[in-house]
Amino acid sequence: MSRSILSSAFVLCSLLVIFAFVPLITCAGISGGKLKYSKQSIKEPQRPLLAPHFTMKWRIVASTNDNSSIPLDWHPLPPKNVKYMLGTGTTYYDWSQKAMLEVYDDYCVPIFGPLTDKINQFRCNFLNVNLTSYLISLDPSPFPKCCVFGEQVFHPPEPTFLNNMFYNSSAALFGKPVDWWVLDTDQNDPAEPFGYGFYPKDQVSGYQTPAAFWFRTVDGFSIQYFKDFEVKKPDPSVWKLPSYCVNAPSCGYL
Ligand SMILES: *[C@@H]1O[C@H](CO)[C@@H](O)[C@H](O)[C@H]1NC(C)=O
Ligand SMILES: *[C@@H]1O[C@H](CO)[C@@H](O)[C@H](O)[C@H]1NC(C)=O
Ligand SMILES: *[C@@H]1O[C@H](CO)[C@@H](O)[C@H](O)[C@H]1NC(C)=O
Repeated sequence: MSRSILSSAFVLCSLLVIFAFVPLITCAGISGGKLKYSKQSIKEPQRPLLAPHFTMKWRIVASTNDNSSIPLDWHPLPPKNVKYMLGTGTTYYDWSQKAMLEVYDDYCVPIFGPLTDKINQFRCNFLNVNLTSYLISLDPSPFPKCCVFGEQVFHPPEPTFLNNMFYNSSAALFGKPVDWWVLDTDQNDPAEPFGYGFYPKDQVSGYQTPAAFWFRTVDGFSIQYFKDFEVKKPDPSVWKLPSYCVNAPSCGYL
């Protein structure tokens, strides 16, 4: 069965379970046996929306020697044989301005090269404003001090971004229930799989608290574990483009 058919079957099953309460066993069968319905609920939770504006801090765990151990299984640290680095950072988001800033306090998101190479251990900001994503290096790096990352048009994830992802599982993270949503439908997409978790029981101003975001990197996977989620508009100064970013060149990446 192809991945997309499997996914559709899974979504269909989830809908059936929610609306018609058909026998769970049938659906678990269709899902290819990967789904352990004894261990986790097959009922798909309601898709949460990202708050329209927020700030949150995070701790990042980046594995550096293993492409197969997925952060879904880490909660919160990878297994013994997997090497990793720790860091911290902050995310600011305002969908009304299609703006997002990610501040990496210790080392930039490890997607450019092996994090074990000193050259890739620079602090950075990703500033996404005006449909452009700027990579700002705060230490010497393989990039100009400010460069345009990716395609010219680039906006942060929409509050409804989970519509493009699939419910994967529920587990516990830091002692709280977490629902995981994953995109893993295209085996040729080097960015996949990636996943996003929410704490369903933990809400701020009516929005589920984001729990974590994990994604593939050059020599492994990284996960940002979120904390201090606040639903508020970030200070406008956060979106100010540094003067050295005006007419910034392309990063030559993507
Ligand atoms: C992980 O995969 C990348 C790309 O396929 C490869 O270059 C790298 O050597 C792999 N790293 C490990 C630790 O297996
Ligand atoms: C966004 O673009 C507008 C119009 O080009 C410009 O006036 C504004 O300064 C830009 N904002 C930022 C943060 O670069
Ligand atoms: C959850 O996601 C992982 C990583 O993509 C995948 O291997 C696993 O099969 C998924 N499980 C379900 C139930 O979708």
